[in-house]
Amino acid sequence: MASTAPVLTELDRVARRLLIGWAGEIGATVSIDAAANLWLRRNGTDPDAAPVVTGSHMDTQPNGGRFDGIYGVIAGLEAMTALHEEGGALRRPLEVVAWTNEEGGRFAPGCMGSMSWSGYRRVEDFADATDPDGIRFADALAAQLAAEADLPHRPLGNRPHAYVEAHIEQGPRLEAEGRDIGVVTGIQGSRFFTVTLTGDTAHAGTTPLALRRDAVQDMLRAITALNALMHDPQDVLRFTVGRIVVEPNTSNSVANRASFTIDFRHPDKNVLLARGDAIADVVQAAVRDAGVTVQETFHALPVAFSPQVIDAVERAAIDQGSSHMRLPSGAFHDAQFVVPVCPTGMVFVPCRKGISHNPAEYSEPRHLTAGTKVLAQTLAELAA
Ligand code: GLV
Ligand code: MN
Ligand code: MN
Repeated sequence: MASTAPVLTELDRVARRLLIGWAGEIGATVSIDAAANLWLRRNGTDPDAAPVVTGSHMDTQPNGGRFDGIYGVIAGLEAMTALHEEGGALRRPLEVVAWTNEEGGRFAPGCMGSMSWSGYRRVEDFADATDPDGIRFADALAAQLAAEADLPHRPLGNRPHAYVEAHIEQGPRLEAEGRDIGVVTGIQGSRFFTVTLTGDTAHAGTTPLALRRDAVQDMLRAITALNALMHDPQDVLRFTVGRIVVEPNTSNSVANRASFTIDFRHPDKNVLLARGDAIADVVQAAVRDAGVTVQETFHALPVAFSPQVIDAVERAAIDQGSSHMRLPSGAFHDAQFVVPVCPTGMVFVPCRKGISHNPAEYSEPRHLTAGTKVLAQTLAELAA
C-alpha cells in the first residue's frame, strides 16, 4: 500500500495530533522548536539530568513506504510507554522526537530539522527551498508553527546524554543473513548535486542537428561520463540520477533546458571527497553545446557511531535473545547530525527484500517488536 506523507501539510499535522494524544495518555509533556521538531518528554527521578533521546521522522518519500521513518517514532513512544508501565524509576528524562523533513521529498535537502537542531545549518538557511508547487519552506514552516501555536516552545538544540534511533534497514543484509536486529556502526557519507544545462529550443522537424544546442543530448553526454567516473567494480559506491526536469518538455521541440540531480554516497571519506570534487570538471568536459552549472546541494561526511551506544544496543539484543549483527547504514538518517552533539547509535530491523522508498516496503510484526524491545532496553540502560 502506498503512503505519501509530505512534511508540513494538513496530513502531517493530523498525524502529529494523534501522536500528541497518545503521549498525553502516558503523561508525557509535548513541545516544539523553531524547526517544528516535535518533542515528547517524561521526566526521570532527576529532572535536571541530560535526557536520553530517541525518535525518527514522520514524513515519507512521495509514493514511499509505511515504515521508513514512522517506525522509529512509534517504537520510541512504545518504548517510553512500556518503561512507564513497568514502573521502574529511570534517573534521566526520556524524550521522543519527530524530526521535521528528514526525507527531503517535498523540500530538498532532507534532515532539515536535525541539521537545524544540531547547529549543522541554521533553519533560516532553508527558507527559500521550494516544493513542486512553488511553496517556500519558510512559509510552510510558518503555517505549521501557527497551527501548533498552542504547543509550548523549546529552544532549538540541547545536549542530550545519548541518542538512539530505530529504523528499518532499507537494505537486504539482515534478511539475507537471517538476523532480527542490526546494531548500526555508522552512516556512509552523501553528496548531492544539481546539474543544469542551458541550450536553445528549436523546431524538431526543421532544425539541422549541427545547428542545435540541445540540452537533453548534452545531459545524456554528462550522465554517460559520470557513470564512467562513478564506476566501482566492488559495487560499494552508490550513484543515482533520480530527478530530471526538461523544458519545454514537448516531443517536437529541442529542449532548451535540462536539469538532473546526483545522489552520490560512499562510506570512505577519501572516495567521497575525490570523486565528488571531480563531478563538475567531468560534466564540463562531457558537454558539447549547452551551457552548464553544477551546484552542490548537500554534503555530509561519513560518521561513526559511539562505542558506548553500539555496545548498549548489542547488549540489549543479546539480552532479548535476538539474533543480531553489526552493520553500517547506507541510507542517511537524522542520527547522522546528532553524532557531533552526543553519543549516538541506531537499531535496525529487517525489511522484506531490502525494499524501501517504494510502496512495497514491509517489515514483519515480529521484527518490529524485537526492535522496539531492544530500543526500550537500550534507552533504559542509558537512562539508568
Ligand atoms: C534517506 O531517506 C536517504 O535517502 O538515505
Ligand atoms: Mn528514514
Ligand atoms: Mn527515507
